[in-house]
Amino acid sequence: MAIRDVLKMGDPRLLTPALPVEDFASSELAQLIVDMRDTMRALNGAGLAAPQIGVGLQVVIFEVSTNPRYPDAESVPFTVLINPLLSPLSDELEEGWEGCLSVPGMRGLVPRHTALRYQGFDAAGQPIDRSVNDFHARVVQHEVDHLHGILYPMRIRDLRQFGFTDTLFPGQDLQDD
Ligand code: NI
Repeated sequence: MAIRDVLKMGDPRLLTPALPVEDFASSELAQLIVDMRDTMRALNGAGLAAPQIGVGLQVVIFEVSTNPRYPDAESVPFTVLINPLLSPLSDELEEGWEGCLSVPGMRGLVPRHTALRYQGFDAAGQPIDRSVNDFHARVVQHEVDHLHGILYPMRIRDLRQFGFTDTLFPGQDLQDD
């Protein structure tokens, strides 16, 4: 088990597009996924992308199960998604509050597609093909953005809807990030 340091906004590695995974059998990939899972769970994150721990590969993970950072969110099964491809299923966008382990202590209102299909591969190299909506779709879009060097503040339309979590949501005892 290894909890890795999460890079914070300002680090150029978060702005660098990630490369596709080519070797699904490598021990480095298996260890990367274990470290990402341990790190995400230790920090109560809903998701994590490999560039956030300084690894420039197209690997994201996500999981939402009674997450104290998102107490009202629907559950999302633990998923490892490698070399993802996203296809929006409608043009409908919805604004929702997001945080990010690379932008600790802050939340912003971000537009996302409400329904999308995602394809890619799991940790064993088996194909994944899911159509999802709402919070599940939001989490996937946020994580895959990291693989393109995009952090959620870059998508906020009205920067008045961006601020510190404890000021935006006083008394809600939301976690630090
Ligand atoms: Ni993030």
